[in-house]
Amino acid sequence: MSAPVDPTSTSAWSQLTAARDTFEPDLRGWFANDAGRVERLTHTVGDLHVDLSKNLVTDEILAALVELAAETGVAERYAAMLAGDHLNTSEDRAVLHTALRRPGGASPELVVDGQHVDADVHEVLDNLSAFAERVRSGEWRGITGKKVTHVVNIGIGGSDLGPVMVYEALRPYADAGIDALFVSNIDPTDVAQKTAGLDPETTLFIVASKTFTTLETLTNARLGREWLWAGLTESGAIDGSEASRTDAVAHHFVAVSTALDKVAAFGIDTANAFGFWDWVGGRYSVDSAIGLSLAITLGPDRFRELLAGFHTVDEHVAHTPLAQNVPVLMGLLNVWYNNFLGAQSHAVLPYAQQLHRFPAYLQQLTMESNGKSVRWDGTPVVTDTGEIFWGEPGTNGQHAFYQLIHQGTRLIPADFIAFANPAYPLEDGGRDVHGLFLANFLAQTKALAFGKTAEEVEAEGTTGALVAARTFPGNRPTTSIFAPSLTPSVLGQLIALYEHITFTQGTIWGINSFDQWGVELGKQLALQIAPAIEGDEDALEAQDASTKALLAYYRAQRP
Ligand code: F6P
Repeated sequence: MSAPVDPTSTSAWSQLTAARDTFEPDLRGWFANDAGRVERLTHTVGDLHVDLSKNLVTDEILAALVELAAETGVAERYAAMLAGDHLNTSEDRAVLHTALRRPGGASPELVVDGQHVDADVHEVLDNLSAFAERVRSGEWRGITGKKVTHVVNIGIGGSDLGPVMVYEALRPYADAGIDALFVSNIDPTDVAQKTAGLDPETTLFIVASKTFTTLETLTNARLGREWLWAGLTESGAIDGSEASRTDAVAHHFVAVSTALDKVAAFGIDTANAFGFWDWVGGRYSVDSAIGLSLAITLGPDRFRELLAGFHTVDEHVAHTPLAQNVPVLMGLLNVWYNNFLGAQSHAVLPYAQQLHRFPAYLQQLTMESNGKSVRWDGTPVVTDTGEIFWGEPGTNGQHAFYQLIHQGTRLIPADFIAFANPAYPLEDGGRDVHGLFLANFLAQTKALAFGKTAEEVEAEGTTGALVAARTFPGNRPTTSIFAPSLTPSVLGQLIALYEHITFTQGTIWGINSFDQWGVELGKQLALQIAPAIEGDEDALEAQDASTKALLAYYRAQRP
């Protein structure tokens, strides 16, 4: 892997620095004096209509940003990723989540490190689809012969956030009378509350873990198994013998993992396990077998539509020049805001209740990928990296934190995501409620861009100190992403859009966006501290003074 380009050494960076030094954002003026701005800055990718015109850029700045992408080799690195180069240098792995959504029979065939990737991907997809159909149709039954009514996905991070986000987003498509629940936290409250009220005889657990070593997931899987055994024994469905318990697991537990040997060690028949590969990062895995809960609840056809949506954007990135390449442009805008205008965070504001977990999903995607201080060759980064992603669906956010975005002292670029057609077309006294909802989306992006001047405030009759309080500075950047409806394909397109935004930024910063060493230390220390919690005095003594005092407090509170 070649050394990363130092972005600050490029001529584009110098141009951008000079532009920043004299930069005076003026969205009002730019819109008033440039009739072509909206058309020039609006792009289409798949079904996504992406309006970048309310961003704080001029044509010159955008051209310099595009030049930065060229000078740092974004297109070349993307091509290398698609081809299976080991972009994940610290783990010496290819990065091939894009292969998970290549259509069957794609040509030329993708062979990486001797693996026939396309064939393997489609074999698992076909098995997964067949299994999902068996569960949906009722051919697959629980130990007492009852049809599955609930699937409980046990996983964490990428083995949870993707499935739960997509399930919530596409729930209107769940048509088989099967609900999904998602257990992730090792806080026992999670599994206790999610299983409460479920019938063990009609519950199917999916243990989803790439490594099948994750403490939270394996603990919750064991708790789920105990709950199953206890419930089935209590109802007399099993006699509690070893053989009956094994039989219960065979009927009520399946797994998704890259480590099928560990699945077997847990007691799950590998005939009921679905594999994937080390070249799929956890946060890039919702389109692998990790999406099993989705194939069951939404149906395999919907799952394939989701994958096709991803692929549409993959193709756009592969075949579109940088200057029109939507994820590249959005990644470049983020670089502009972070590295030149001092933004530290980025809001994602879906005007779709169904996307209420999308910001949380994006937090793992973007922050686990680009929250790094070293580059892919082990040298320190030379710029700030990894902005903080956050958000809530509109209009809830409007009544919570938008105040700060409108009138606070921080620059917070925001993506607004909306759909022309609602999943539930309800009316209120003859008025289309979704239309009212969308009016808010349009109003917010307008208010953020153009603000309200003191003169306009005064013209409404306000005087004195209130004028300043009621003035909106404007020039708060937003991107509007609009689509016809939130279909499986559109959702796949949206996810892929953000994957490639993340990739663009990571490449410019010289980051390996596909490892996550920053999660390891806490995991190690938790294992060291656990004995101290359980009463081991040596483990207690080995702690620092603050941890020791906290452990003492803990012990004092326990019965
Ligand atoms: O948080 C670290 C992490 O490794 C994530 O990257 C991953 O998605 C999550 O843990 C779960 O890992 P696994 O799927 O192996 O259980």
